[in-house]
Amino acid sequence: MSEDYIWLEGVPLSRKYLTSKYQTGEWRNFMFKEDDILTVSYPKSGTHWMIEILSLIQNKGDPKWVQSVPIWDRSPWLEARRLYEALEAKEGPRLITSHLPIQLLPKSLFTSKAKIIHLIRDPRDVLVSGYFFSKICFYFHQSASLQAHFECFMQGNVLYGSWFEHTRGWMSMKGKENYLLLSYEELKRDTRSTIEKICQFLGKNLEPEEINSVLKHSSFQAMRDNKMTNYTILDDAYFNLNNGPFLRKGISGDWRNHLTVAQAEAFDRAFQEKMAGLPPELFPWE
Ligand code: A3P
Repeated sequence: MSEDYIWLEGVPLSRKYLTSKYQTGEWRNFMFKEDDILTVSYPKSGTHWMIEILSLIQNKGDPKWVQSVPIWDRSPWLEARRLYEALEAKEGPRLITSHLPIQLLPKSLFTSKAKIIHLIRDPRDVLVSGYFFSKICFYFHQSASLQAHFECFMQGNVLYGSWFEHTRGWMSMKGKENYLLLSYEELKRDTRSTIEKICQFLGKNLEPEEINSVLKHSSFQAMRDNKMTNYTILDDAYFNLNNGPFLRKGISGDWRNHLTVAQAEAFDRAFQEKMAGLPPELFPWE
């Protein structure tokens, strides 16, 4: 069921999903605008949660938009077929999403004032979440076992390439005024203050009851029930939701239920080596 990847500058991308603009090189001309809000993340880091929150913040907590427009049209993926073109035509403040590594983003991003939210998550949870996701999403290679997926993940031989390089790359933006680094773990631990932090970064003033509404409508259960977010309205060319829901567990630390001691130790060693030199406080998980 899964498909072959297309390799762009050494990064494996989905042949089925990738817009032809990324194959012709036209993506280099994409123009970011000052009022764009870009969410960047490695897949399975909580991207959809962030989009739901941003969609609600934009509407001061009013859930009408998230309940009537599919998530991929609210914050289209830059690299995706059809969505790239939709973004080019979009007026007004745009929400944009991308899983691409920093070197595959158009140059205009780096000279614009577009706001960038970089969402990271404990890569062990990303790995486990990705393994289950590969059973329902046809863009991902489906590994025969968690061990096989583990090996591909550690080698960066998975969709969007190495987590380590992806994360390091985007973290090089740290210190820039228009870049905010957030983690799934802090969002989980203290959702309200993290939403307030996002509002502050975006220059949005929301009343406490508007924040309450953002919280309510972006909760795991609300998102699981929202057909504009849970992918149940897409046809089965993309997903096989018989193998599991799009929103799976929504917890931190699920890797403990799946990785063996040997895998966890091998992961730790690789993490220390590949992320050497970066301050440990950037990674708020144990
Ligand atoms: P799990 O598979 O661990 O449950 P992405 O959006 O980048 O694909 O990330 C998907 C992960 O984010 C899934 O993790 C999903 O359950 C989790 N997620 C999505 N919405 C969430 C929410 N409102 N609260 C907590 N976790 C959420």
